[in-house]
Amino acid sequence: MDTNSQRVIGILTGGGDCPGLNAVIRAVVRRADMLGYKVLGVKNGWLGLVDGIAEPLSLLSVSGILPRGGTILGTSRTNPLKSEESKRKVLDNLKKFGIDYLIAVGGEDTLGVARYLVNEGVKLVGVPKTIDNDVEGTDQTFGFDTAVQTVTEAIDRLHTTAESHQRVMVVEVMGRHTGWIATVAGLAGGADCILIPEQPMTIEAICDILEKRHARGRVFSIVVVAEGFKLAGAAQEVTRDQKLDAFGHTHLGGIGEVIAQEIEKRTKFETRVTVLGHIQRGGTPTAFDRVLGTRYGVKAVDLIHEGKFGEMVCLKGTQITSIPLGKAVTTLKRVDSEWIRTAEIFYG
Ligand code: F6P
Repeated sequence: MDTNSQRVIGILTGGGDCPGLNAVIRAVVRRADMLGYKVLGVKNGWLGLVDGIAEPLSLLSVSGILPRGGTILGTSRTNPLKSEESKRKVLDNLKKFGIDYLIAVGGEDTLGVARYLVNEGVKLVGVPKTIDNDVEGTDQTFGFDTAVQTVTEAIDRLHTTAESHQRVMVVEVMGRHTGWIATVAGLAGGADCILIPEQPMTIEAICDILEKRHARGRVFSIVVVAEGFKLAGAAQEVTRDQKLDAFGHTHLGGIGEVIAQEIEKRTKFETRVTVLGHIQRGGTPTAFDRVLGTRYGVKAVDLIHEGKFGEMVCLKGTQITSIPLGKAVTTLKRVDSEWIRTAEIFYG
């Protein structure tokens, strides 16, 4: 493929890391090599394009990374759209590096920047990533399956100690805007109550569920709460501090403690809290996430090869396909009523 031999594909990973990113990077390099493209790895998300830091990726440099968590390229929550200067630097550095095509791997924020660049004429393809699984337009993001597996294992462990001590265990999991991890891991782990941003509940309703369960002889309970859950009527989410990240997001955290204190006060059931935090994002990806990341990476290069820019690769049923980036970044994929209804059947 002589015509492509000098063509360069840039790839970056932005936002919170997640298991499966290295599978995407490896697949992009392998597929690109097969089609005659060079690949340049941009370091630390959009920051690498603002500061001009990138390195060539070869078959050798991506060898052995498939089972590794995190991202060999590094990541950051840099928002280059914050100033005219950083917007210009991104476009200048794309030129300076000779990047003909860009693959942006990220969630809502990273893909939002990607969409802006498409409108600026950058030949770009997006790959959806986040453990939160909330990117619209794809049935699943990679990283989610691994996070669900980790949380399910944690719930299983908490069950045995909850039962021994007859305690209520509140497990706080990630999920800023949506409760996918809480819902799916909660179902898999047999949680007795699942609290998610999509469905505010009163503390009375939560305690009622637990009291009914204890009344029928099950004197321990597991409550899974997503960090973005709000008690009905609460003005805002519980935050760790007042700081905002570059995309204007607060640092969530602490809702588990709030719920646990209220449960103990009202029901007198001894209650403990476990915050799983970044354990959910770390570690080796499941087989599912490795394969999904691999299929996304191959598809991203194929889209570039076919000249289909401004698209995001996605999973629809069992098929890998693509949709316009614009359709993916305008809204979030939330836990729908069918999931909520199924989870509720097992409350109490
Ligand atoms: O990647 C998304 C996410 O997992 C959110 O659920 C969470 O609020 C956020 O990352 C926390 O990320 P960090 O602490 O790395 O900024």
